[in-house]
Amino acid sequence: MNAPKSKIAILISGRGSNMEAIIKASQEVDFPAEVALVISNKDDAKGIDVAKSYGIKTQTIAHKDFTNKVDFETALCESLEAVQPDLICLAGFMRIFGDTYFERVKTPTLNIHPSLLPKHKGLNTHQAAIDAGDISHGVSVHFVTPALDDGAIIMQESIEIHKGDTANDLANRLLPIEHEIYPKAIRKVLNT
Ligand code: GRF
Repeated sequence: MNAPKSKIAILISGRGSNMEAIIKASQEVDFPAEVALVISNKDDAKGIDVAKSYGIKTQTIAHKDFTNKVDFETALCESLEAVQPDLICLAGFMRIFGDTYFERVKTPTLNIHPSLLPKHKGLNTHQAAIDAGDISHGVSVHFVTPALDDGAIIMQESIEIHKGDTANDLANRLLPIEHEIYPKAIRKVLNT
């Protein structure tokens, strides 16, 4: 018999394709977690409809509805505490957490970042890799800490950069790899 599944909460801001990959993986009998909640910080995030189509509980906590970061993060923390997740996964979540989150949330939090960290932290990573003349690029799943894109790396996967590749080419080649690596990294974290 399989052990009871852990609970994951996923935070998104947009299309939610990594979120969907995690939801699909969670439907496998031997996957160690189920998705208990998806939260978006944007009220037009397409990923919310995708999550709903799988029957997943969703919530929108729009940062723009709060006058400050502390209040936004407090609301987010309250919603997370209500489901008591074992793991929180950021999947294209475009807010940087401040002290409120890190003081209150003791649950491990993961993020997927489209670069071979520690290279190319922050935004526009595909163009940054091209501009740097890198011959390889990739994706990292890492623990979230107060320093941006800086926590311990759980898993990485790389691709070659070909002459003439555009940022779009890299994004398109990397996305299916992101969808494979995130569920694998979650398995690794929950099974160790
Ligand atoms: C992905 O490329 C992810 O690596 C980055 O943001 C993008 C989100 O895409 N953090 P999606 O919303 O998961 O489709």
